[in-house]
Amino acid sequence: MGILRIVMLLFLVSCVWPSWGLCDGGPKPHIKIVKAKTMAELAARYDSKSCRECHEKIYDEWEDSLHARSILGTPRTAPTILTAVDKGLKLFPYSGVKKDSDIQVRHLMFCAKCHLPQLKYATDDVAREIIATIRAWMKASREGDDDKVDQLEAKLASVNIGCTVCHNEKAIIHKWQYGYPQPDTVYGSKKGEGEHPHPSFTKMAQSPQLKESIFCGQCHGEGPNFELEEPSQCATLYGSYLFAYTPEGGHETCQDCHMKKSGLGHDMQAYRNETMRKMAVDVDVRSTSYFWRKNKEEGVIPMALLNVDIYNKCGHAIADG
Ligand code: HEC
Ligand code: HEC
Ligand code: HEC
Ligand code: HEC
Ligand code: HEC
Repeated sequence: MGILRIVMLLFLVSCVWPSWGLCDGGPKPHIKIVKAKTMAELAARYDSKSCRECHEKIYDEWEDSLHARSILGTPRTAPTILTAVDKGLKLFPYSGVKKDSDIQVRHLMFCAKCHLPQLKYATDDVAREIIATIRAWMKASREGDDDKVDQLEAKLASVNIGCTVCHNEKAIIHKWQYGYPQPDTVYGSKKGEGEHPHPSFTKMAQSPQLKESIFCGQCHGEGPNFELEEPSQCATLYGSYLFAYTPEGGHETCQDCHMKKSGLGHDMQAYRNETMRKMAVDVDVRSTSYFWRKNKEEGVIPMALLNVDIYNKCGHAIADG
């Protein structure tokens, strides 16, 4: 057997050995390449509860944020995903989706890219289970079955942007420079590497961009998602941060405003929160009043002139999403 044949054989073996992942663009020692088969399995792999014991304050903050229910939303996201399926996917002639049972992960990625990036590590059954759960939840809601609504809402919220989505999956952006996120490591902002006292995340290392706006920009959007087979557009605020705020001299990061100045830490919030509302705009109102003598019959008419300047102090356009 010639050397070339051995190399070929090794390459073929590497292709069928999923954890090496050599066939989709080089070694990707990633979080469990073996795909999750149910929502419960996917939720368990990205469960944030195991972090609570030692990072309680952060956990409690995160739990109040929309990241903790990124498929359910306010809860406006879940119904909108159904609209995207029923009025989008099923009506598009080339999507391959005519009924719910045709839905695959790749179809839902036009939302999940940002709302649940780890869906790419799940089987098509999980994509269909999410849709079925949203339908059942809406039905229970129409029928006024409150217990069922609560139960299904909890199920939908169980798949979310949890601790390890940010501190592992999304923690390294430039993977050719810094390497791929390792399945046993949490990435923070401290320099260097060390031990981390968690049963499966036993190491910690530095995420090069955790404190930079680009980190949030991975999901907070620049415009149409051109890399998708069917580009979608939802959040575009990172685009206005890059192309409007920074050219005007803006220098604060997303983390500066949303985590530090607000004092909210991991409870990243927007206009629904009073502190954020107060930070959002400066309003300057100047008024002049005078009397207008129109004509003899109608007499004097009181008039007011209002000059209102509204100045957006956010690092981006509002509203978004
Ligand atoms: C580029 C990433 C991205 C994609 C792709 C994306 N979203 Fe979003 N979406 C976000 C972000 C980030 C927010 C919240 C922040 C905001 O308001 O800008 C959001 C907000 C929303 C909201 C309002 C949230 C609420 O709870 O009221 C809905 C509804 C929504 N998305 C539905 C969808 C649907 C349906 C799809 C797929 C067709 C989708 N999104 C695709 C990132 C994305
Ligand atoms: C949406 C992304 C996101 C999620 C979800 C998230 N974090 Fe963070 N976390 C960050 C960012 C960004 C920072 C750095 C903030 C800064 O100091 O600028 C951070 C900081 C930290 C720190 C402090 C150390 C450091 O590196 O500054 C710890 C510990 C931490 N997170 C743990 C958690 C835990 C536990 C959870 C889940 C309950 C969680 N995080 C969820 C983005 C996230
Ligand atoms: C048994 C306790 C324990 C558990 C459970 C735990 N951590 Fe930690 N974590 C620590 C300690 C201790 C540190 C080091 C703190 C320091 O050096 O400031 C740390 C550090 C970190 C850092 C890096 C902080 C930095 O400043 O760079 C991140 C990120 C982090 N943990 C995330 C998580 C996540 C995510 C989970 C759940 C998957 C988790 N931790 C579970 C105890 C724990
Ligand atoms: C993995 C993708 C992802 C990352 C990374 C991420 N976000 Fe988000 N974020 C979302 C999605 C999706 C939503 C909307 C969830 C929903 O309501 O459906 C959201 C919601 C928010 C909201 C609430 C918006 C509202 O209308 O109330 C704020 C604020 C926010 N994110 C700030 C940040 C900041 C700051 C960072 C970086 C430290 C960050 N996010 C990182 C995906 C992400
Ligand atoms: C200079 C401070 C500042 C910076 C920098 C900043 N934000 Fe904001 N952001 C705010 C304030 C204040 C609000 C509340 C106004 C609102 O929600 O309309 C807000 C609102 C939001 C919203 C909700 C938008 C809406 O109204 O629908 C999201 C999402 C968000 N920010 C994410 C981010 C991300 C991601 C970055 C970095 C790319 C960022 N912010 C940078 C101050 C800032």
